[in-house]
Amino acid sequence: MKILGISGSTRKDDVSGTSKLVQTVLGNTGCDYDLISLKGKRISGCIACLGCVPDNICKVQDDLAELRAPIVAADAYVIGAPNYYSAMNATTHALLERWYQFRHQEGNTLWGKLGVAVGVGGTSGQYPADEIEKFFLYNFVETVAKVTGQGAASCFSCGYGETCRVGVPTLLYGEGIKITSEMVPDVTKQADVMQSAAQAGERLGRKLREGHDRTEVTRTMQQKLMAKFKEST
Ligand SMILES: Cc1cc2nc3c(=O)[nH]c(=O)nc-3n(C[C@H](O)[C@H](O)[C@H](O)COP(=O)(O)O)c2cc1C
Repeated sequence: MKILGISGSTRKDDVSGTSKLVQTVLGNTGCDYDLISLKGKRISGCIACLGCVPDNICKVQDDLAELRAPIVAADAYVIGAPNYYSAMNATTHALLERWYQFRHQEGNTLWGKLGVAVGVGGTSGQYPADEIEKFFLYNFVETVAKVTGQGAASCFSCGYGETCRVGVPTLLYGEGIKITSEMVPDVTKQADVMQSAAQAGERLGRKLREGHDRTEVTRTMQQKLMAKFKEST
């Protein structure tokens, strides 16, 4: 069983809450895994050229091309993204839009696999985690757990955090804030978040080891997606 972890943060691993949580989930699965960071990767969104329709292979030439093989080979995914403007960041969105390449003809490349969705935000990671779950659903991948945490907004280290009126320190603590290292959010200091990441990893590993019926998972996800469509019409 091989799990593919993708951290959609474009910040360095040592400051990225997303990367830390994705790694914690992966490390608790008890399975083999690879971790890919999207930092420095150039990935555009889907351009709807339909070049992928005949063979389920995206023809856009950028850094996603080298990620296609590990995505196809993986039995499960742990995908994390930072919250940008109450949504997942554009780089992760672009990557997941391009999973359109798997949704033609038989379309069963990803069907029935399992996933964990991770979101981190300066205030909350709920939006990106929910969006990753939605993309999993579109590909009939079952979300077995979602993990959200609070990361350090760049405003804590940009140099203007104590005086900037639109910055996160002022929004969280009010005007005149004096930034101390203790108040800089770090997912590793959030015991409940780290525990939920560890439990998500254990759950994913257990489900993979027990074995799951991909056809059954696919059927359930199809029904869930159809219900979602009906809700929105
Ligand atoms: C362009 C931009 C927009 C952001 N918008 C939000 C936001 O709307 N809500 C929020 O909670 N955090 C927001 N943040 C803060 C990030 O989510 C936060 O720094 C998080 O820790 C980033 O994840 P990372 O540490 O894995 O890179 C934003 C950051 C950037 C750079």
